[in-house]
Amino acid sequence: MQSAEISIILPTYNESQNILGILEHIQKSVPREMRAETIVVDDNSPDNTAKIAEDYFHSIRERTGHTINVVKRKAKDGLSSAILHGIQQASGRIIVVMDSDFSHPPNIIPKMIETLRHTKCDIVIASRYVKGGSIQGWPFKRKLMSKIATMIAKKGLGIKSHDPMSGFFVFKKNIINELKFDAIGYKMLLEILVKAKGAKIQEVPYTFTDRQNGSSKLGTSTVLEYCNSVWNLYKYGRKVRREERRTSVRFLSKAARFFTVGASGLGVNYLASMLFALSANVWYLHATMMGIVFSITSNFFLNKYWTFEDKDFSIKTTLVQYGKFAGFSSIGALVQLGLVYYLVDGFALSYPIALVLAVGTAAFGNFILNKKWTFKEKVWS
Ligand code: GDD
Ligand code: MN
Repeated sequence: MQSAEISIILPTYNESQNILGILEHIQKSVPREMRAETIVVDDNSPDNTAKIAEDYFHSIRERTGHTINVVKRKAKDGLSSAILHGIQQASGRIIVVMDSDFSHPPNIIPKMIETLRHTKCDIVIASRYVKGGSIQGWPFKRKLMSKIATMIAKKGLGIKSHDPMSGFFVFKKNIINELKFDAIGYKMLLEILVKAKGAKIQEVPYTFTDRQNGSSKLGTSTVLEYCNSVWNLYKYGRKVRREERRTSVRFLSKAARFFTVGASGLGVNYLASMLFALSANVWYLHATMMGIVFSITSNFFLNKYWTFEDKDFSIKTTLVQYGKFAGFSSIGALVQLGLVYYLVDGFALSYPIALVLAVGTAAFGNFILNKKWTFKEKVWS
């Protein structure tokens, strides 16, 4: 069978009364040519939802060609994490996310996919809060909470969509390729909207109908979870805003920090040597060696923490990095020595100029080597 083009993610927890109906409905609504698969992500529902879905798939697989993949997780880990899990299993290029309790009408899926294709956008959101959209069956309190949550997301996180709380949306899988998600709570779409920056959005109106069967899984912790995830996303956004986008500026700023650290090393070297030689009465060559060790060590930690912003101080990683750094420093010293000799003797340059050139070359070489091999960064980044 051809692999699927569209993957419909259907999270379930105790949906035994809805699962058959919704699967049938999806089947009817999404034409065969669309090459869709459905991925049911069930969190070990005690009411046997997973088994019902599997049996249904076995009964229809021959005649429909529609694949239903039932992913069984061990425990109820939350809606967002179930959605993310489903996405990881998906083979389609296009992902559809929806509830399994008929609140989200499957018959608008084709329209959402058409919109995605024709407008060349990245995300299509089924929205309750655009013209033509509405909510049926929710009490005033829940409507109000939804409105407030939506307002917080729009104002606090700068979201453009009218319904960032929607649980019904379609998107191109590649827009989330490089992203890491927290997937806490209910609001997977909100996290995608914040993190997939630059993604183009379209909205399609729909009527949310509160479930007829079974009960909502929204608990008292939901409000707290929501506040927590908005706060995390806010911090995330602030960090991204502060990050410099131009590679050239980031590269030069790191190089400048590296050279500053190098210069500070000269001071540390001198001070440490003098201290050992004068106060501890150490032989002057030993004192010089101590100065070198001290300055390499302080250079290493300053560069690790400040220049390359590496916060991983586990013993093994740090030791390996320290070894590489010290090795490159020795190579740098040799290069400097050779270069000075070559420039003065071979090019008849004056010693002060030769020294500046040699120190500059060795320092720059060291910067590149440590960037790439010690701290594992791309050279041009
Ligand atoms: N696997 C899994 N694990 N599924 C879950 C879990 C979970 O921990 N919690 C909920 N679900 C499934 C339910 O079985 C249902 O299919 C869907 O997720 C939505 O859960 P409901 O409990 O029905 O949510 P709701 O109707 O209160 O919330 C709706 O409104 C929100 C917008 O305000 C949903 O549409 C949300 O998606 C939407 O964000
Ligand atoms: Mn529901």
